[in-house]
Amino acid sequence: MTIAEANRSHDARDAWSRKPSLRAVYTDLYQRIAARCVPGVILEVGGGSGNFKDYAPDTISTDIVAAPWLDAVADASRLPFADGVISNIVLFDVLHHIEFPVQFLDEAARVLRPGGRIIFSEPAITPVSNLFYTHLHPEPVDMKANIFAVGEPDPNRDPFDSNQAVPTLMMHHQRDQFEARFPGLRIYENQLTSLLAYPMTGGFRPWTMIPAAMVPLVLGLERILIPILGPLMAFRILSVIERRS
Ligand SMILES: C[S@@+](CC[C@H](N)C(=O)[O-])C[C@H]1O[C@@H](n2cnc3c(N)ncnc32)[C@H](O)[C@@H]1O
Repeated sequence: MTIAEANRSHDARDAWSRKPSLRAVYTDLYQRIAARCVPGVILEVGGGSGNFKDYAPDTISTDIVAAPWLDAVADASRLPFADGVISNIVLFDVLHHIEFPVQFLDEAARVLRPGGRIIFSEPAITPVSNLFYTHLHPEPVDMKANIFAVGEPDPNRDPFDSNQAVPTLMMHHQRDQFEARFPGLRIYENQLTSLLAYPMTGGFRPWTMIPAAMVPLVLGLERILIPILGPLMAFRILSVIERRS
Protein backbone atom coordinates (compact mmCIF):
# COMPACT_ATOMS: atom_id res chain seq x y z
CA MET A 1 0.00 0.00 0.00
CA THR A 2 1.35 3.44 -0.87
CA ILE A 3 1.08 6.43 1.48
CA ALA A 4 -1.19 8.14 -1.07
CA GLU A 5 -3.59 5.16 -1.01
CA ALA A 6 -3.70 5.11 2.78
CA ASN A 7 -4.28 8.87 2.90
CA ARG A 8 -7.38 8.73 0.71
CA SER A 9 -9.36 6.79 3.30
CA HIS A 10 -8.15 9.24 5.99
CA ASP A 11 -9.15 12.22 3.78
CA ALA A 12 -12.60 10.69 3.22
CA ARG A 13 -12.97 10.18 6.98
CA ASP A 14 -12.04 13.84 7.59
CA ALA A 15 -14.59 15.02 5.01
CA TRP A 16 -17.19 12.79 6.67
CA SER A 17 -16.60 14.44 10.06
CA ARG A 18 -16.51 17.98 8.61
CA LYS A 19 -19.56 17.83 6.24
CA PRO A 20 -22.97 17.47 7.91
CA SER A 21 -24.76 17.57 4.53
CA LEU A 22 -22.69 14.60 3.31
CA ARG A 23 -23.46 12.67 6.49
CA ALA A 24 -27.18 13.41 6.16
CA VAL A 25 -27.35 12.07 2.59
CA TYR A 26 -25.11 9.07 3.22
CA THR A 27 -27.00 8.24 6.43
CA ASP A 28 -30.14 7.79 4.34
CA LEU A 29 -28.29 5.49 1.90
CA TYR A 30 -26.46 3.50 4.60
CA GLN A 31 -29.74 3.04 6.50
CA ARG A 32 -31.41 1.74 3.35
CA ILE A 33 -28.61 -0.81 2.96
CA ALA A 34 -28.75 -1.84 6.64
CA ALA A 35 -32.55 -2.25 6.43
CA ARG A 36 -32.10 -4.80 3.62
CA CYS A 37 -29.72 -7.07 5.54
CA VAL A 38 -31.05 -10.48 6.54
CA PRO A 39 -30.19 -12.03 9.96
CA GLY A 40 -26.59 -13.25 10.31
CA VAL A 41 -23.07 -12.05 9.58
CA ILE A 42 -22.64 -8.77 7.66
CA LEU A 43 -19.42 -8.39 5.68
CA GLU A 44 -18.54 -4.99 4.24
CA VAL A 45 -16.21 -5.12 1.23
CA GLY A 46 -14.27 -1.94 0.33
CA GLY A 47 -15.16 -0.30 3.65
CA GLY A 48 -12.70 2.59 3.02
CA SER A 49 -13.43 5.37 5.49
CA GLY A 50 -15.46 2.88 7.52
CA ASN A 51 -18.69 4.77 8.09
CA PHE A 52 -21.20 1.98 7.38
CA LYS A 53 -20.35 0.43 10.75
CA ASP A 54 -22.10 3.40 12.45
CA TYR A 55 -25.37 2.00 11.07
CA ALA A 56 -24.71 -1.74 11.54
CA PRO A 57 -22.11 -1.97 14.34
CA ASP A 58 -21.60 -5.75 14.15
CA THR A 59 -20.41 -5.50 10.53
CA ILE A 60 -17.03 -7.03 9.66
CA SER A 61 -15.55 -4.12 7.75
CA THR A 62 -12.78 -4.92 5.24
CA ASP A 63 -10.90 -3.25 2.41
CA ILE A 64 -8.00 -4.07 0.13
CA VAL A 65 -6.23 -1.06 1.74
CA ALA A 66 -5.55 -1.27 5.49
CA ALA A 67 -6.89 1.35 7.92
CA PRO A 68 -6.96 1.37 11.74
CA TRP A 69 -10.78 1.42 11.93
CA LEU A 70 -11.22 -1.63 9.64
CA ASP A 71 -11.43 -5.23 10.89
CA ALA A 72 -9.36 -6.89 8.17
CA VAL A 73 -7.63 -6.43 4.83
CA ALA A 74 -9.42 -8.43 2.14
CA ASP A 75 -9.48 -8.41 -1.66
CA ALA A 76 -13.03 -8.67 -3.02
CA SER A 77 -11.79 -11.23 -5.56
CA ARG A 78 -10.34 -13.55 -2.90
CA LEU A 79 -12.50 -13.31 0.18
CA PRO A 80 -10.84 -14.97 3.21
CA PHE A 81 -13.98 -16.82 4.35
CA ALA A 82 -15.22 -20.41 4.17
CA ASP A 83 -18.13 -21.38 1.91
CA GLY A 84 -21.64 -20.38 3.00
CA VAL A 85 -20.77 -18.54 6.25
CA ILE A 86 -21.79 -14.97 5.36
CA SER A 87 -25.39 -13.69 5.34
CA ASN A 88 -24.84 -10.24 3.84
CA ILE A 89 -22.13 -8.60 1.75
CA VAL A 90 -22.52 -4.83 1.60
CA LEU A 91 -20.69 -2.46 -0.74
CA PHE A 92 -20.92 1.30 -0.99
CA ASP A 93 -19.22 2.74 -4.06
CA VAL A 94 -17.00 -0.31 -4.42
CA LEU A 95 -18.31 -2.53 -7.25
CA HIS A 96 -17.20 0.04 -9.85
CA HIS A 97 -13.66 0.01 -8.39
CA ILE A 98 -13.13 -3.76 -8.52
CA GLU A 99 -10.76 -4.83 -11.30
CA PHE A 100 -12.78 -7.93 -12.30
CA PRO A 101 -16.32 -7.59 -10.87
CA VAL A 102 -17.21 -11.10 -12.05
CA GLN A 103 -14.51 -12.61 -9.83
CA PHE A 104 -15.96 -10.76 -6.85
CA LEU A 105 -19.47 -12.04 -7.66
CA ASP A 106 -18.18 -15.63 -7.92
CA GLU A 107 -16.51 -15.19 -4.53
CA ALA A 108 -19.66 -13.63 -3.08
CA ALA A 109 -21.77 -16.57 -4.33
CA ARG A 110 -19.29 -18.92 -2.67
CA VAL A 111 -19.15 -17.31 0.80
CA LEU A 112 -22.87 -16.42 1.04
CA ARG A 113 -25.27 -18.84 2.66
CA PRO A 114 -28.41 -19.76 0.66
CA GLY A 115 -30.76 -16.77 0.94
CA GLY A 116 -27.78 -14.52 1.76
CA ARG A 117 -27.56 -11.12 0.06
CA ILE A 118 -25.20 -8.80 -1.78
CA ILE A 119 -26.47 -5.28 -1.16
CA PHE A 120 -24.89 -2.26 -2.84
CA SER A 121 -25.32 1.43 -3.50
CA GLU A 122 -23.33 2.58 -6.54
CA PRO A 123 -23.37 5.29 -9.25
CA ALA A 124 -26.22 5.08 -11.77
CA ILE A 125 -25.60 6.31 -15.31
CA THR A 126 -28.68 8.14 -16.59
CA PRO A 127 -28.76 10.97 -19.19
CA VAL A 128 -28.38 13.70 -16.54
CA SER A 129 -26.00 11.91 -14.17
CA ASN A 130 -23.84 10.93 -17.15
CA LEU A 131 -23.21 14.63 -17.89
CA PHE A 132 -22.30 15.25 -14.25
CA TYR A 133 -20.13 12.15 -13.85
CA THR A 134 -18.38 12.65 -17.20
CA HIS A 135 -17.63 16.36 -16.86
CA LEU A 136 -17.62 17.17 -13.14
CA HIS A 137 -16.28 13.97 -11.57
CA PRO A 138 -12.75 12.61 -11.86
CA GLU A 139 -13.71 8.94 -12.35
CA PRO A 140 -14.29 7.63 -15.91
CA VAL A 141 -17.58 6.41 -17.39
CA ASP A 142 -16.97 3.70 -20.00
CA MET A 143 -20.23 2.25 -21.28
CA LYS A 144 -18.34 0.01 -23.74
CA ALA A 145 -16.25 -1.87 -21.17
CA ASN A 146 -16.38 -5.67 -21.00
CA ILE A 147 -17.74 -6.05 -17.49
CA PHE A 148 -17.59 -9.86 -17.68
CA ALA A 149 -13.82 -9.95 -18.28
CA VAL A 150 -11.69 -12.05 -15.94
CA GLY A 151 -7.93 -12.14 -15.51
CA GLU A 152 -5.01 -12.22 -13.16
CA PRO A 153 -5.31 -9.30 -10.69
CA ASP A 154 -2.61 -6.64 -11.24
CA PRO A 155 -0.74 -6.25 -7.92
CA ASN A 156 0.25 -2.68 -8.89
CA ARG A 157 -3.26 -1.52 -9.75
CA ASP A 158 -4.53 1.55 -7.89
CA PRO A 159 -7.59 0.35 -5.89
CA PHE A 160 -9.29 3.65 -6.73
CA ASP A 161 -9.12 2.98 -10.50
CA SER A 162 -12.71 2.70 -11.63
CA ASN A 163 -15.41 2.63 -14.27
CA GLN A 164 -18.58 4.24 -12.97
CA ALA A 165 -20.61 2.51 -15.68
CA VAL A 166 -20.10 -1.01 -14.26
CA PRO A 167 -23.18 -1.18 -11.94
CA THR A 168 -25.51 0.29 -14.58
CA LEU A 169 -24.24 -2.08 -17.26
CA MET A 170 -24.56 -5.06 -14.93
CA MET A 171 -27.95 -4.30 -13.38
CA HIS A 172 -29.70 -2.62 -16.32
CA HIS A 173 -28.14 -2.69 -19.82
CA GLN A 174 -26.67 -6.23 -19.57
CA ARG A 175 -28.97 -7.70 -16.97
CA ASP A 176 -29.80 -10.71 -19.19
CA GLN A 177 -26.11 -11.59 -19.52
CA PHE A 178 -25.71 -11.17 -15.75
CA GLU A 179 -28.55 -13.59 -15.10
CA ALA A 180 -27.15 -16.12 -17.57
CA ARG A 181 -23.62 -15.86 -16.08
CA PHE A 182 -24.79 -16.20 -12.45
CA PRO A 183 -27.59 -18.81 -12.33
CA GLY A 184 -27.00 -19.16 -8.57
CA LEU A 185 -27.81 -15.48 -7.98
CA ARG A 186 -31.12 -13.67 -8.37
CA ILE A 187 -31.65 -9.90 -8.65
CA TYR A 188 -34.12 -9.39 -5.81
CA GLU A 189 -34.36 -5.60 -5.90
CA ASN A 190 -33.01 -2.97 -8.28
CA GLN A 191 -33.87 0.66 -7.59
CA LEU A 192 -32.76 4.01 -8.92
CA THR A 193 -32.13 6.52 -6.10
CA SER A 194 -30.68 10.00 -5.48
CA LEU A 195 -31.87 12.84 -7.70
CA LEU A 196 -30.67 16.12 -6.19
CA ALA A 197 -29.42 15.97 -2.60
CA TYR A 198 -26.56 13.58 -3.34
CA PRO A 199 -24.89 15.56 -6.17
CA MET A 200 -25.53 18.82 -4.30
CA THR A 201 -23.40 17.69 -1.33
CA GLY A 202 -20.34 17.47 -3.59
CA GLY A 203 -19.57 14.06 -2.08
CA PHE A 204 -16.18 13.96 -0.36
CA ARG A 205 -15.00 17.15 -2.07
CA PRO A 206 -14.68 20.33 0.06
CA TRP A 207 -17.78 22.13 -1.25
CA THR A 208 -21.51 21.62 -0.72
CA MET A 209 -24.53 23.32 -2.30
CA ILE A 210 -27.03 22.12 0.29
CA PRO A 211 -27.18 22.74 4.05
CA ALA A 212 -27.74 19.62 6.17
CA ALA A 213 -31.03 21.02 7.49
CA MET A 214 -32.46 20.96 3.94
CA VAL A 215 -31.50 17.36 3.22
CA PRO A 216 -34.56 15.62 4.79
CA LEU A 217 -36.91 17.88 2.83
CA VAL A 218 -35.13 17.24 -0.47
CA LEU A 219 -34.94 13.49 0.18
CA GLY A 220 -38.68 13.44 0.90
CA LEU A 221 -39.34 15.21 -2.39
CA GLU A 222 -37.03 12.78 -4.21
CA ARG A 223 -39.00 9.77 -2.96
CA ILE A 224 -42.12 11.22 -4.62
CA LEU A 225 -40.35 12.15 -7.87
CA ILE A 226 -38.09 9.12 -8.35
CA PRO A 227 -40.64 6.94 -10.23
CA ILE A 228 -41.04 9.72 -12.82
CA LEU A 229 -37.58 11.30 -12.93
CA GLY A 230 -35.36 8.34 -11.94
CA PRO A 231 -34.71 6.98 -15.46
CA LEU A 232 -33.80 10.50 -16.62
CA MET A 233 -31.66 11.79 -13.76
CA ALA A 234 -31.05 9.33 -10.89
CA PHE A 235 -27.45 9.42 -9.66
CA ARG A 236 -27.39 6.09 -7.83
CA ILE A 237 -28.47 2.44 -7.93
CA LEU A 238 -29.52 0.45 -4.88
CA SER A 239 -29.50 -3.28 -5.61
CA VAL A 240 -30.08 -6.46 -3.67
CA ILE A 241 -28.86 -9.76 -5.15
CA GLU A 242 -29.82 -12.97 -3.38
CA ARG A 243 -28.04 -16.32 -3.41
CA ARG A 244 -30.58 -18.91 -4.50
CA SER A 245 -31.27 -21.80 -2.14
C1 LIG B 1 -14.79 5.03 -3.26
S1 LIG B 1 -14.13 4.04 -1.99
C2 LIG B 1 -15.56 3.67 -1.05
C3 LIG B 1 -15.25 3.52 0.41
C4 LIG B 1 -16.43 3.34 1.35
N1 LIG B 1 -17.19 2.16 1.01
C5 LIG B 1 -17.31 4.56 1.39
O1 LIG B 1 -18.49 4.44 1.19
O2 LIG B 1 -16.84 5.66 1.65
C6 LIG B 1 -13.77 2.51 -2.82
C7 LIG B 1 -13.07 1.52 -1.93
O3 LIG B 1 -12.98 0.25 -2.61
C8 LIG B 1 -11.76 -0.34 -2.23
N2 LIG B 1 -11.40 -1.40 -3.19
C9 LIG B 1 -11.03 -1.29 -4.48
N3 LIG B 1 -10.76 -2.48 -5.03
C10 LIG B 1 -11.00 -3.39 -4.05
C11 LIG B 1 -10.90 -4.82 -3.99
N4 LIG B 1 -10.51 -5.56 -5.04
N5 LIG B 1 -11.21 -5.44 -2.83
C12 LIG B 1 -11.61 -4.72 -1.74
N6 LIG B 1 -11.70 -3.37 -1.74
C13 LIG B 1 -11.41 -2.71 -2.88
C14 LIG B 1 -10.79 0.84 -2.20
O4 LIG B 1 -9.62 0.57 -1.47
C15 LIG B 1 -11.65 1.93 -1.57
O5 LIG B 1 -11.52 1.99 -0.17
